[in-house]
Amino acid sequence: MKKLITLLAFACCSAQMVDASVRFSNLTYDLNPEYVTGKINVKVDGGVYSIGMNCDLLKKIDGNFWVTPVFSKKLGKSYTPIIDLKLDTCKTDPALAENPLIRFVSTEAKKFVSFGLMCPYEPGHYVVNDFTFEKSSSLMNFIPKGNYHVSLTSRHQSPGSSVLHKVMSLSFFADVE
Ligand SMILES: *[C@@H]1O[C@H](CO)[C@@H](O)[C@H](O)[C@H]1NC(C)=O
Repeated sequence: MKKLITLLAFACCSAQMVDASVRFSNLTYDLNPEYVTGKINVKVDGGVYSIGMNCDLLKKIDGNFWVTPVFSKKLGKSYTPIIDLKLDTCKTDPALAENPLIRFVSTEAKKFVSFGLMCPYEPGHYVVNDFTFEKSSSLMNFIPKGNYHVSLTSRHQSPGSSVLHKVMSLSFFADVE
């Protein structure tokens, strides 16, 4: 679920925006109640959009934790995936991921969370405190204006098990202007 965070972002690597802001909308999510209970929501405060999470993790997560973020950009009438990858946060710290966008977003996300992004995750209370992209954030310099869709699914595979359990999934739109 920390994974949420890894995914809160958009496209990559074209330094055309300097003073960007982002609007999040249509957030939906699905939590596996055997693993996670709680709420995720979009907040608007003084024109600033943010995503918050307030959840309890009920089981320890270790072994493998597969996170699959998909970032799509609206091109014409449809959303086209620009980043679609799979990462095991028990093996790789997302803040050190190969993909530069995942790396940027994870580093940015660390400012809003009180927990480590890398597995293992102990049972307990996890909060994401109004995650947003600050205008001053260097990340915003890398995100071209446009309409984006972000989705993410995470699955847990216990040590020694061959079974993958879905932990959560999440989807939202982000308009960058
Ligand atoms: C968000 O949901 C509303 C209401 O269902 C819909 O009209 C709108 O097109 C959606 N936004 C996006 C970006 O899909």
